[in-house]
Amino acid sequence: MTNLLTYQVYENVAVVTIDSPPVNALGIDVRQSIVEGFKRASADVNVQAIVLACDGRTFFAGADIREFGSKPKSPILPEVIAFIESSPKLTIAALHGTPLGGGLETALACHYRIALAGTRMGLPEVNLGLLPGAGGTQKLPRLVGIPAALEIITSGRQIKADEALKLGIIDRVCESDNIVASAISYAKELVDQNATRTLVLDRNEKTAEHRGKSEVYDAFRAKNARRFRGFKSVENIIKAIQLAADLPYEQGLKRERELFTELQQSRDSSAQQHVFFAERESSKVPDIPRTTPVRPIDAVGIIGAGTMGGGIAMNFLNAGIPVTLIEQKQEALDHGISIIRKNYQRSVKAGRMTEEALEARITLITPSLDYADLASVDLIIEAVFETMEIKKEVFSSIDAVAKPGCILASNTSYLDLDEIAGATSRPQDVIGLHFFSPANVMNLLEVVRGEHSAPEVINTGMRLAKIIGKTPVLSKVGWGFIANRVMKVRGYQTDNLILQGINPEIIDKVIYDYGFAMGPIAMKDLVGLDVLGRDSNERTVESVLVDMGRLGQKKNGGYYDYDQNRQKTLSPLALEVIREVAKEKGIEPVLADEAEILARLLYPIINEGAKVLDEGIAMRSSDIDIACIKGYNWPVYKGGPMFWANSIGLDRVLKKLEEFEQRFGSAFTPSPYLVRLVEEGKEF
Ligand code: CAA
Repeated sequence: MTNLLTYQVYENVAVVTIDSPPVNALGIDVRQSIVEGFKRASADVNVQAIVLACDGRTFFAGADIREFGSKPKSPILPEVIAFIESSPKLTIAALHGTPLGGGLETALACHYRIALAGTRMGLPEVNLGLLPGAGGTQKLPRLVGIPAALEIITSGRQIKADEALKLGIIDRVCESDNIVASAISYAKELVDQNATRTLVLDRNEKTAEHRGKSEVYDAFRAKNARRFRGFKSVENIIKAIQLAADLPYEQGLKRERELFTELQQSRDSSAQQHVFFAERESSKVPDIPRTTPVRPIDAVGIIGAGTMGGGIAMNFLNAGIPVTLIEQKQEALDHGISIIRKNYQRSVKAGRMTEEALEARITLITPSLDYADLASVDLIIEAVFETMEIKKEVFSSIDAVAKPGCILASNTSYLDLDEIAGATSRPQDVIGLHFFSPANVMNLLEVVRGEHSAPEVINTGMRLAKIIGKTPVLSKVGWGFIANRVMKVRGYQTDNLILQGINPEIIDKVIYDYGFAMGPIAMKDLVGLDVLGRDSNERTVESVLVDMGRLGQKKNGGYYDYDQNRQKTLSPLALEVIREVAKEKGIEPVLADEAEILARLLYPIINEGAKVLDEGIAMRSSDIDIACIKGYNWPVYKGGPMFWANSIGLDRVLKKLEEFEQRFGSAFTPSPYLVRLVEEGKEF
């Protein structure tokens, strides 16, 4: 017997319990243990029902993702599931924690399911570029119907026990905190009642009404076209669910496996699996063990109620943490709070929040014009104008009022955190907490480690991210830290391409087709040409457009003209300005196809990433991937710039950079680190 299995019999009920920390992922040992447990129970003549349960924090949280790259060992999960389904006894899955993916599919192999209140279950394979490949696409629709299955499997969302009960995924929610005891009594009850033993795979009532109705799936595709764009897994999921309605179970299952295998072998899925682990890795700091103390953050002060400060505040309010919001003038304070309220009202209108929840959040705000009101908070985040002098003044003022041990954080995007910390008497308590706009939406939190930041201050910053629903990436001090620094080079190249006569619409198209939600030029128009940072007073296309009163989408159009429905067409005026400015600068037109435009825009990001690594600003290449995905919406199915570079081949990236360096100059000079990696035949 493997040591993951505990087998116990309570009168006529056998309990097969698996314990494989941390999350009971269904690796080979776990799969073998389940089969072993079921074999014993089936052979036991006194046993009439089998409860399948897990120890630890959760029922099986899915297939073991670490096994995905290697050849699967038998019994594979579909074999385990078929084995459970062939059991001569009544079977009950006892769920707690997060039964996800293959975990939920295992539960669906049982006749009945009981869950602890608070259990969250789902089929999140879409997040790994996969589909539920062990019967999930065929069985969930049989329980919840086609429309609900489409929504649940393409979103990958977690469903709470009470909703799962309503939907019919489970049969009972147990209110006691002992799931195994409840499952045993439930099993006895079912045996006593001689309850039916219908397997999910044999239930066809809910799928029958959608048989042969391809229009249902087309309508679903059309409704979600924007959200699904680029995700191959979604298309295969929809196809598989349609088969659940159209084909007998066995045939549907066979096709599901083919559609699963197709995805499993895809680069997109490898990229999404990389992102899954990268996201977990990014919160680990090798020289700061997890056991490092964390300072409690029960109250926060935020200086600056502008767009950034307000957005940052919302994260804490959402987590139930009170915020003291400081501004210099009452009007600015009132305006800031009204924007926060407006943002929440949008959620209420969309049905994502109740009025009461909105009010509860607003009451957590203490507005103030006086730094003295920050005396009792545990963390102060400065989000004021991006000027060193102002930041230093603010830090010296908060140093005077903050209690000992309070963490002083700057949201600076580009400035030297160590210089800011130097304005205080406690640089050990200073860190950067760099949010990305809109700060209440974007999931990245760059935690900036100053020269003197204490380990527990850094650790608190990293842990805080999880509390407010962000993914942390640690950065050392350096201009632009990680995400802004690497993405900035795309901006420079966009400007160069425009001046070299490349049609802005084509530049936008190339980036959109790669998978970004929007091209860089449409993005400039959206942000507003007047608010884009300028590096100098030089006459640029944008400075001329702004002087003409063309501020972007918000006023008179920018690079594009916009109609009442915000449909855009390239502006002839803007094209004229581009030609003029290019002439003034003596820039000759060049020709480039779409592949070259893409390489000119994105390869410099890879190169900058290599520099960031070489300088030790980022700890690992996967952190740069996470920073770009969570901070700039880099398409997750490309895995971020560094993973993408590996998949292209670093030698090919280097060769292109060298060619561009010859043609266009030093902006493309390869990082010595990249050169070294290629020489040594290594990857990021
Ligand atoms: N396989 C391997 N390792 C896994 C794993 C899995 N399915 N799920 C989690 N882990 C690991 C994490 O990598 C992490 O390891 P480290 O501590 O070494 O970093 C550890 O378990 C704990 O995970 P989290 O830090 O994420 O813990 P959490 O409490 O925040 O979240 C969770 C727990 C909700 C289970 C979350 O880990 C999660 O969402 N896991 C993925 C679930 C999933 O996608 N399952 C479907 C797998 S695909 C599948 O099942 C295909 C199929 O149909 C055949």
